[in-house]
Amino acid sequence: MSDVFSLAKAYEKYFKIGAAVADMNVEGYYDVLSQHFNSITPENEMKFSETEPREGEFTFERADHIFDVAKRLGIKVRAHAPVWHNQTGRWMYADGDKPAAPELIYERIDAHFKKLCERYGDNIYAWDVVNEAALDDGPGCERGESDTYRASEYFNLCGTGFIEAAFRSMDKYAPNAQLFYNDYSECVPEKRERIVRLIRNLQDKGIRIDGFGMQQHYFAAPDFDELKRSIETYAGLGLRLHITELDISLMATMNQSEHRIKFGDPGFEEYMREAMSPTPEKLAKLEDIYVRLFEVYRSYSDVIDCVTTWGVADDYTWLDYFGVKPGEQIIKQHPLLFNEKHEAKDCVRKLIEAAR
Ligand code: GLA
Repeated sequence: MSDVFSLAKAYEKYFKIGAAVADMNVEGYYDVLSQHFNSITPENEMKFSETEPREGEFTFERADHIFDVAKRLGIKVRAHAPVWHNQTGRWMYADGDKPAAPELIYERIDAHFKKLCERYGDNIYAWDVVNEAALDDGPGCERGESDTYRASEYFNLCGTGFIEAAFRSMDKYAPNAQLFYNDYSECVPEKRERIVRLIRNLQDKGIRIDGFGMQQHYFAAPDFDELKRSIETYAGLGLRLHITELDISLMATMNQSEHRIKFGDPGFEEYMREAMSPTPEKLAKLEDIYVRLFEVYRSYSDVIDCVTTWGVADDYTWLDYFGVKPGEQIIKQHPLLFNEKHEAKDCVRKLIEAAR
């Protein structure tokens, strides 16, 4: 075992260590990435509206930049979320003034995947082909007739066909990459059952799906039993698992409910006071959750191949802006493994030691 202070090196025998990066921050994180990570995911740069804002008009500059950094780092990319109900142009669902027929949507997905795969090919080792298509009970999830699927525009027009078409097309163009379905609240029992039904539907139709991406965003303390049960359930489908979007909000150290504490909620003011200058005790509690989560991940390293954090360091995280309207104060969350100065938090040392 090498003595180099590196998460990726320490975890070589368990799984890859990944991070989501953005075109605008990836150079600033270069040193941390090269020391600690061996997988990267473009946070937004490969989503549909980024790469094909108008039909047939492709824009790859921002994604190209991240692939260029990956090349310099000597690592491959975990590509993320081309088929998702968010960040997709309205044109996808329309045929002139009429709603698009399912076949037209499948053709558009196919043409898009072909273009992306021709460009990036085997520099991608895994794809989140479809993101968040399962129904969920939280606010903001479109509910319809289905008790399994989110009533997204895709689903309303195509039923489950868009998921099947997406996996079939990606199988054709990315024969060497692992194909994942990716979702959140994946350890909540009711949602887990829906995700299982969604995956089984693909498997029953003989469609290749290699893995499930467990997002692992934490706003409350993890339920470790449900986490283990979930890993076993998904792995029991014969799938490889990636932890795809891990982050732990400081809320997880004080939240009594399982949901995010929002502006106006009881406890919000108290949270804000803490979050603007967190006590060492609260920060240590957050880091302790990382240590305990990794203990679980390591114990399932026979089925987990990659653990990706959704960001690199606390100076940039989507969570600080989640639910914040323009002009409002950001809601600090301190959710990553590296602090605002890009220094490793103490838990990084603990995670490295625990891997020895
Ligand atoms: C979801 C998506 C990600 C990202 C986050 C918020 O989890 O899968 O691509 O957009 O929301 O940043």
